Amino acid sequence: MDSSSYNPQQISCKFIVFVILFTLLELSSSISSESCLNPSSSKVIIAGNSTILSANRTFELGFFNTNDESKWYLGVWYASIPTPTYVWVANRETPLSSRDASSFEIDGGRLRVKDNRDSRCDVVWESGGGKLEAEGDVKLQEDGDLVVIDARGVVMWRSFDFPADTFLPGMNLTVGQTLTSWKSSNDPAPGKYSLRLRPPDYGEVELLVDNTQTYWSSGVWTGNIFSGVPEMTLPYIYKFYFTDPFTETATFGYTETMTQQKPLTRFNIDSSGKIKQYTWSAQTESWNMFWSEPENPCRVYGLCGDLGFCNAKSMVNPCKCLDGFQPFDGVGWGDGDFSGGCRRDGYDTCSDNDKFEETTGDVTFDSEKFESFSGGRTDCERKCLSNCSCIALSHNPKTNSCKNYFGKLLNLGNSSSDLGKIQDSLNIRVHKSVAGRKIKAKTIILISTITSFLAISSIAIIGFIILRNNRIKRKKLEEESIFPVTNLKVFSYKELHAATNGFSQQLGHGGFGAVFSGKVDSTLVAVKRLERPGGGEKEFRAEVCTIGNIQHVNLVRLIGFCSEESHRLLVYDYMANGPLSFYLKNNGGRNLDWDARFRIAIGTARGIAYLHEECRNCIIHCDIKPENILLDRDFSAKVSDFGLAKLIGRDFSRVLATMRGTWGYVAPEWISGVAITTKADVYSYGMTLLEILGGRRNVEGPPPEGGGGGCGSNEKWYFPPWAARRITEGDVAAVVDERLAGGYNMEEVERVGLVAVWCIQDEEATRPTMGMVVKMLEGVVEVAVPPPPKLLQALVSGESFRGVGGNSQNDTVSRASDES
Ligand SMILES: *[C@@H]1O[C@H](CO)[C@@H](O)[C@H](O)[C@H]1NC(C)=O
Ligand SMILES: *[C@@H]1O[C@H](CO)[C@@H](O)[C@H](O)[C@H]1NC(C)=O
Ligand SMILES: *[C@@H]1O[C@H](CO)[C@@H](O)[C@H](O)[C@H]1NC(C)=O
Ligand SMILES: *[C@@H]1O[C@H](CO)[C@@H](O)[C@H](O)[C@H]1NC(C)=O
Ligand SMILES: *[C@@H]1O[C@H](CO)[C@@H](O)[C@H](O)[C@H]1NC(C)=O
Repeated sequence: MDSSSYNPQQISCKFIVFVILFTLLELSSSISSESCLNPSSSKVIIAGNSTILSANRTFELGFFNTNDESKWYLGVWYASIPTPTYVWVANRETPLSSRDASSFEIDGGRLRVKDNRDSRCDVVWESGGGKLEAEGDVKLQEDGDLVVIDARGVVMWRSFDFPADTFLPGMNLTVGQTLTSWKSSNDPAPGKYSLRLRPPDYGEVELLVDNTQTYWSSGVWTGNIFSGVPEMTLPYIYKFYFTDPFTETATFGYTETMTQQKPLTRFNIDSSGKIKQYTWSAQTESWNMFWSEPENPCRVYGLCGDLGFCNAKSMVNPCKCLDGFQPFDGVGWGDGDFSGGCRRDGYDTCSDNDKFEETTGDVTFDSEKFESFSGGRTDCERKCLSNCSCIALSHNPKTNSCKNYFGKLLNLGNSSSDLGKIQDSLNIRVHKSVAGRKIKAKTIILISTITSFLAISSIAIIGFIILRNNRIKRKKLEEESIFPVTNLKVFSYKELHAATNGFSQQLGHGGFGAVFSGKVDSTLVAVKRLERPGGGEKEFRAEVCTIGNIQHVNLVRLIGFCSEESHRLLVYDYMANGPLSFYLKNNGGRNLDWDARFRIAIGTARGIAYLHEECRNCIIHCDIKPENILLDRDFSAKVSDFGLAKLIGRDFSRVLATMRGTWGYVAPEWISGVAITTKADVYSYGMTLLEILGGRRNVEGPPPEGGGGGCGSNEKWYFPPWAARRITEGDVAAVVDERLAGGYNMEEVERVGLVAVWCIQDEEATRPTMGMVVKMLEGVVEVAVPPPPKLLQALVSGESFRGVGGNSQNDTVSRASDES
């Protein structure tokens, strides 16, 4: 268990690695000088700014940099989209300092990237694998695979066998291969996180940190999916294959189901350790993310580094340093690389008169090493203080027992987060003057801020004077054209800060930002603080005005907004009874009677229909779900968050990624990357209707675990396909929330059930419009029995869950620790 103990095996291993490395270095330097002396044996594939395109211009090979003109890499990217997205990089760790003098050659039986500055011909990268013929033909294929083909047309080498951080359709993951994350979003050097087939069985894939600790695994292959990833059964865009699982020749991969108009799509291990699946949307010109694991960012092993505290609920930045500590690498921390962890304010590491500060509540963490003994608190502290590598202690006065922790503290989080294996009240060793120092540190920051503020402002004033005349003219024009009819109130940040009591009462947290309750002129309001809003001030105002002009009894009314510096806030009417999601069983919610549910269903439909059909510019909501249906004092439904998808820029992915089971929640055409229409909202509305009917979430936690769930729960973990089948078979009563205990109007329940299934049809054209939905619910038009949606049925066809083994997170963690 003690991981810091002496291990002779490790040392001899390190020695061998060193010897091998040394030999390799020798080898490569001799190769590089040889090749320069003998240029005739080499063939230049590309040099400088030239590139190679694949046949249909999907991928491009060439030299690129991320944001630093002095670091160039050879890589493959999508040629057809405006967002630079690199799927493969050759010289990940050895960037070239200039593009002009760089070349990519086939030379000495290898592919080589060379730095030719000052005729040096330094080889900075060369291909692994077998020797290549000099006459080999180098081609970039339409699937992104860079291949070398010999005279007989046989592939001698392919980049797909040496993946970087991206798993493309057609690529294979085999035993011994790993995909490795980038170090940071701008640095392609191999980072800490990797994906591989899990040894020794090779029957599942796993994510690891530092090639040792598993922090996520897919669950074993059941014949057509991994048991922990039931979304794989949805045949929306992929077909997965796993040949020879549980053997040394195991090969996992996937292809797209479409043969024509294939969307651009990829899996990627990002620098924060998550595996993410993206599809390119030409409509929004963005990569939309539809699936990601692990769901909880804090599950990524050691994400926040030594002494970093992880909070999964914070959407912007999960890591923070405790009082008295600061990020070890402030720049990296800002870029989302938290692995450096936290160090004590000031640089001292340890002193005899340190104090111990208690963290609030129980926390969980992993410690490199601890020593436990019995003794009083004073003993416990004294012992810890006597050794500089002791960084924390916990003491239990009841049992008079003490634990001293040494080295690093990883995976520190609130006890509910269940991150680390140790759960205890923790006293962290801090400098004795932390309280005093904190004030000092703040004043220093303040002074330096003031100085730089003065410097910046003098520059700004000069600029301002130059620009002012222009600005005033433009602003007048702008405000006239932007504020034609709205009666929106413009708030200052200060006003809203006061109105919300310093943003102290949080009502909720959605994909766009946190919502706080507040009071303006003694009326209650809800203030939404947008996170990372896209676009500038002008776009924001224009968009807010569009939203402000949309008024309907079933839409939440926007009262005003604030746009100051980087702050973007929206002020809405306060909805006394909160979101519909409060009333679903799984959230421990209150029961709503059938009458209220039926009115909410119709009200919501009317609100969305208004957005689709009656506004001047048709608005697709893009995010219909119970969280976005708010209930007024009299439980009338009001749709919220409409028009916001545009406000946060083009990044829908954060919205979509906030719930488990997105693949079964949003319309299939969206995931397939084709343009979405108002029918995508109809689909999500249908899903919401099922939740209203069943009084439960459509997706209940993870899929069933071996034997656990009890009878019937297995097929109901994902509600929609099961419910759709019951409804189309005429057994809607089986679907209705049992909390209603039969207290409902059968005719209305049947209508709601049938409408829901019509809304979640696979084909857009088969789904009704929202206007028609309203008429169907009102009983104005007859509702026929729809066919069960086929795509969803795949999930409950039974096939998928054959031989599901134990795959709980705990199981994963304990297996991982057994290995290390
Ligand atoms: C590539 O470089 C050459 C000279 O180094 C230059 O003349 C040419 O315009 C460049 N092409 C592009 C597309 O930048
Ligand atoms: C390129 O596109 C054409 C037309 O869409 C298609 O027929 C052809 O098969 C494509 N070629 C490759 C290599 O995918
Ligand atoms: C991937 O594996 C499949 C099945 O083993 C094989 O048919 C295919 O050629 C492989 N593709 C590549 C790019 O290696
Ligand atoms: C401090 O504690 C560590 C871990 O128990 C131990 O290896 C080290 O020798 C100790 N140092 C001193 C000076 O006692
Ligand atoms: C942990 O959670 C408790 C209660 O939820 C909270 O009071 C405390 O501030 C949290 N600790 C940290 C360090 O965020």
